[in-house]
Amino acid sequence: MEPATGLEPFFDTAERLVADQGANPAAFALIGDLLRIVAADATLIDESKLDALHQSSAQATILGHGPAGSTLMLGRFSPEAPTPVHNHNSWGVLCVVRGRDRHILWRRQDDGSRMGRAQLEIIETRELAPGDVAWFPDVPGDIHSQQGIGEAAWELVYFGRDPNARPRMYFDPETGRVEERAAV
Ligand SMILES: [Fe+2]
Repeated sequence: MEPATGLEPFFDTAERLVADQGANPAAFALIGDLLRIVAADATLIDESKLDALHQSSAQATILGHGPAGSTLMLGRFSPEAPTPVHNHNSWGVLCVVRGRDRHILWRRQDDGSRMGRAQLEIIETRELAPGDVAWFPDVPGDIHSQQGIGEAAWELVYFGRDPNARPRMYFDPETGRVEERAAV
């Protein structure tokens, strides 16, 4: 794991919270408070560090990893199109840094027994402003999509595990198709 310059206290505190309390909404709310402090640093916004994400108009960079493998990512979500509906193989807590973000949480209705097929439903749609926090639960509840509103949304996302370590699932709710591929 690469060093997380300047972010060591964030990772240490966040990983300790989850170790002590579990990956549950109470811990996620406290991690959201920590993310708000990190998000106040305007020097985070640096387009030159971003890589393409999801084969879409979204971009992201990994800011660092904690000792137990948690991962902090900075993403930029264009207003032009939503990200594909995707999973992360991890729970996540997010905080908007700049812009507004439409964040949609999805849930699988099927049992996953049909290869390449999935039926999804929306369980929550939120519009998030700078400093607003949201989270998605661990597998299999880690399915979401998002889009900037009017302008690009910049957002910190903190994952319990490295979301790029394994291929993600990409869902098409219209056709019911699902495929696995790398995020970046
Ligand atoms: Fe995501």
